[in-house]
Amino acid sequence: MKTFLLLLYLGFFLFFFLFFVPTRATSSIVFATLGRSLYGFDIFATSISSSSSEPELQLTDGVSINYNGFFPSSPSTLLSLIDPSSYTVLTEPIDALIYVTERGGHSTIYVDFFSTSSSPSNRRETIELPIRLQFPLLPAPDGRPSVSMKDRPSLFGDRLIFVSTHEPSHSPRQSWAAVYSTHLPTGVSTRLSPDGIADFSPAVSTSGRWTAVASSGERGWTGEVQELKTDIYIFKTSDASARTLVVRHGGWPCWADDSTIYFHRQSSDGWWSVYRAAITTLGDVPGLVSIDRITPPGFHAFTPAVSATAPELIAVATRRTSSQFRHIELIDVRDGRNAYIEVTRVISPNAHHFNPFFSPDARRIGYHRCRGSQNNGNPPWLLENIKSVSPETFSLFRIDGTFPSFSPDGAQIAYVSFHSVYVVNSDGSNPQEVYSGNAFATAWDWKRKGVIYTSHGPSFAEESTGVDIISITLSEDDDKAEPFIKKLTLGGKNNAFPSPSPDGKWVVFRSGRSGYKNLYIMDSIEGESAGIYQLTEGPWSDTMCNWSPDGEWIAFASDRDNPENGSFSIYLVHPNGTGLRKVVHSGDGGRTNHPWFGPDSNSLVFTSEYAGVSSEPISNPHHYQPAGEIFTVNIDGTEIRRLTHDSYEDGTPTWTSLFLKPSDVVESLQGVTFCNFDDCHWLNLPNQFNDVLNGTIC
Ligand SMILES: *[C@@H]1O[C@H](CO)[C@@H](O)[C@H](O)[C@H]1NC(C)=O
Ligand SMILES: *[C@@H]1O[C@H](CO)[C@@H](O)[C@H](O)[C@H]1NC(C)=O
Repeated sequence: MKTFLLLLYLGFFLFFFLFFVPTRATSSIVFATLGRSLYGFDIFATSISSSSSEPELQLTDGVSINYNGFFPSSPSTLLSLIDPSSYTVLTEPIDALIYVTERGGHSTIYVDFFSTSSSPSNRRETIELPIRLQFPLLPAPDGRPSVSMKDRPSLFGDRLIFVSTHEPSHSPRQSWAAVYSTHLPTGVSTRLSPDGIADFSPAVSTSGRWTAVASSGERGWTGEVQELKTDIYIFKTSDASARTLVVRHGGWPCWADDSTIYFHRQSSDGWWSVYRAAITTLGDVPGLVSIDRITPPGFHAFTPAVSATAPELIAVATRRTSSQFRHIELIDVRDGRNAYIEVTRVISPNAHHFNPFFSPDARRIGYHRCRGSQNNGNPPWLLENIKSVSPETFSLFRIDGTFPSFSPDGAQIAYVSFHSVYVVNSDGSNPQEVYSGNAFATAWDWKRKGVIYTSHGPSFAEESTGVDIISITLSEDDDKAEPFIKKLTLGGKNNAFPSPSPDGKWVVFRSGRSGYKNLYIMDSIEGESAGIYQLTEGPWSDTMCNWSPDGEWIAFASDRDNPENGSFSIYLVHPNGTGLRKVVHSGDGGRTNHPWFGPDSNSLVFTSEYAGVSSEPISNPHHYQPAGEIFTVNIDGTEIRRLTHDSYEDGTPTWTSLFLKPSDVVESLQGVTFCNFDDCHWLNLPNQFNDVLNGTIC
């Protein structure tokens, strides 16, 4: 009788649990983004009128990263439009800044209002403004911000013009970036880019009548990761009509007046340079009159900005042989003199400065740079919470490192940083270097506690390169004790990407031992000397393998469809070599890599160029593959879902059954060099890098 009652009780409990307890996220996905944790971008402004020595002002608040700003021309009107009741809080004169921010784990557009009269003067160091009022400009109708990338905001009357990636493109490897116009009083948005066409870097003309964009047009994205193959189109801001190609080969347009556009392109002599296009916009069909090159060879100049108030001043970012840093300069183009005036090199010589913009009165210039050590904002996060498209299924994080993997109990994360393997508790505590060597890829044994597999040697190397799989065994009781290292492969023919079987007996890995990279399986404890067999075979590359938690499948990336041109797709094969099938193909020439199984073994997370590039790469720090975004897919190839929307290189994802609370985790490792990220490598100048980069010098 007692047993019966107990069962009944348990039955009720189960019933309640299954049907009434709200489902909670059950897993977490963690991925890497090249350099992003070090950016610390804020928007700054400095006076450029010769009479004033006003210090540099930090305009944004040091939360997350803030960039690609824009000064609206009538801040008071904008404030009364957004929140009439708060109008009286600020004292005139009111200033406002519209900008892109990644606070809250997703990209969105904010406006900050502040009183300029309160900014202190007569001080030499950078001043932080007390931000008085802050509003998101694009609240979603249901209150849940959509997950997408927003970029390059500007204002035309009561309309916000910007780039968004919220609508999928129609084909693989086609960018989702398109230009939209949102009517601020109603929140109603209109797409200005034609269906199926990607547009970047919109700029509204001085009258507001026209908008110029950089567009890859019908051609789409063809895999370029340095200069995008874009042309400049203009169309009417009001309804996107009269869309016309005005300049072939150009990007980042800006308007001096309704018939003058400045833009950048990489010139045939290799130097990025700023050009001026004279156009006619009188009739309904705009046309090109002439193009002049403004900046000469000998240095790079790009991302121009101009103000209608002082159209004789062009602001640009430059890379010159005399500095390793990207700086903002003004070009005075009056009388064809082209005098150059340094803006940021005198204020902060050792920082990269990006994407200048003028205040409406042309007395100040804004830009973004890393806020530096005096920052009033976030330090780097070990785990930065990213808004999940499916919060009921998984939380999503960016880790400050690469190749993350979780211990089976989810308590610890292994990852690679500066080629060493680190282990840290999932709450960010107790970070430790467990292997200092040239390592890449990590995976934990499912059965033996504290055993991590990695590959030792250079990554991105040929079949014959010396790379071997090792196991790292952490000491169980003494975390200060040296881990035990065991080499598992012999002969060093590019043995990499180890992934253990769930029964703890085997490790699958890729090896170049036959002259091609194929998959092999070996004994997990003793290594290949105790047993090895070849799982895949063929004259191509099979790599980045991952064993499913239920033991049934091994997922891997392969270029077997087209070994000549490096197009990688994701495949599955049973550990006994049967059942080979393709899951995701990213499009011809495309790369789809680093598959990792979800805890249910029915889905995969991976990185891919499936969504193309989302902004002009030159407007960002360096990313080798700015098209890399994180996706999930069912193992039958259905339901491809995009998880990240940004213009960075996102890669090496992992997926754990542990649910991590969706909030940021502080970096406790010392020695993280905030602000230490690279400018685009392909802008390198001859005298700085000639020993390393002979082939790529402009
Ligand atoms: C290979 O493994 C799969 C999955 O475990 C199984 O269904 C299949 O029967 C096996 N085939 C052979 C020939 O052993
Ligand atoms: C790769 O090969 C496919 C099929 O042959 C072809 O359509 C595509 O253009 C190639 N891509 C590159 C980048 O060469």
